[in-house]
Amino acid sequence: MALVFALLLAGPPAAHAASRDAGPCAGQAAARHGHIAAVLDRRAGARRTRGQLGDARADRRRSRWHARLARYYGEQALLRPVPRGTAITYRTLRRSRALRRSFLTGFEQLTPENEMKMERLQPAPGVFRFAEADRMVRFARRYCKRVRGHTLVYGRQLPRWATDGRFGPEQLGFEMEWHVRTVMSRYAGRVAEWDVVNEAIGPDGSYARNVWFDALGKRYVERAFRAAHDADPSARLFYNDNGIELPDHPHTVAVRAMVARLRRRGVPIHGVGIQNHVSTAHHASEAQLARTIRGFTSMGLNVAITEMDVKLDPPGTRARRLERQRLVYRAAARACARNPRCSSFSTWGVGDGVSWLGPMAGGLLFDRGYRRKPAYSAVSRSLGSPAAP
Ligand code: G3I
Repeated sequence: MALVFALLLAGPPAAHAASRDAGPCAGQAAARHGHIAAVLDRRAGARRTRGQLGDARADRRRSRWHARLARYYGEQALLRPVPRGTAITYRTLRRSRALRRSFLTGFEQLTPENEMKMERLQPAPGVFRFAEADRMVRFARRYCKRVRGHTLVYGRQLPRWATDGRFGPEQLGFEMEWHVRTVMSRYAGRVAEWDVVNEAIGPDGSYARNVWFDALGKRYVERAFRAAHDADPSARLFYNDNGIELPDHPHTVAVRAMVARLRRRGVPIHGVGIQNHVSTAHHASEAQLARTIRGFTSMGLNVAITEMDVKLDPPGTRARRLERQRLVYRAAARACARNPRCSSFSTWGVGDGVSWLGPMAGGLLFDRGYRRKPAYSAVSRSLGSPAAP
């Protein structure tokens, strides 16, 4: 505790203060500690009164667990300069207690994996369905976790009405901006960071063909960012992309050129998300990733590692492959932590059992039984938590 309060008084290291903050309960870390403890105690009390806890032993065990969680969050927020995040699906969050426990103890930030995409939020023109996204945001905030909004304008996971040709270019532009404004306004003040545009550039460095580009040309990117900023001027707005880990790859070069142009035009863009879906055989080295990150931060942008997973490639025993995976994760976490403008580090899922790559890919920090893999503590240590449990 003495260490916690010493750090609280000292504040964050100056170099980090500009881009890294303490999350949804910023500025009241000590109060938060007390607040969470009180909330958890009240809940435990309520359950007791309702007689849902069964016997007194279970009751005591639950209280001890809540108390540990409360201590953990209070200390965690103060000690970790770079928050760890992860994508979660609503379905898994609802169904798996093991997932909830791993998330609550292992991460400080949540990205809804699919629940904030256009096909889910606006299945018919003008018909918004926020229930699942709302529940995820409420869950995260209840435990003082940040939320990264993902994603407002994307060429995939679109509702049929946006792609079936019923709207001409002008109407599509209006619909896109209206979607952005509606979603951003709803979560203003609760979701501080958004992937506004996702994967607008293809692997060869040209603009990706999608319904937005076909209708509006490359200006759609700028329009999306301006609409987002109008709707919530306090949100940090990111461009997010896959395959931009290597500094000299045509894809990365093109993204750098695009965001530089946006900055020159005064477009409100604050950061670039590097997804970092890689494998043990194909990945950037720490030096390469550090150079890529610098390429963006030297323009005054923040960077986040937004969707990392490291698929286990053959050859080798499982132990050897896990060790290679540990080194790949560690390199990325170090590259991020060593740049003061790298503001968070997220994986695309918690445990290997629920991953977009399927259960055999083995790319995440927890295994299928939600046990920590060797990469977990390498990431925790590299992101700078002397207190990582
Ligand atoms: O919701 C339907 C369900 O009703 C149906 O029964 C089922 C049958 O397959 O499909 C379900 O939809 C799936 C959806 O995930 C929800 O699980 C889609 O088929 C599936 O294509 C979709 O995949 C998502 C993918 O984006 C689509 O592009 C992944 O979960 C999601 O992890 C992935 O995430 C993307 C990021 O947004 C951007 N960066 C790349 C990353 C990985 O592809």
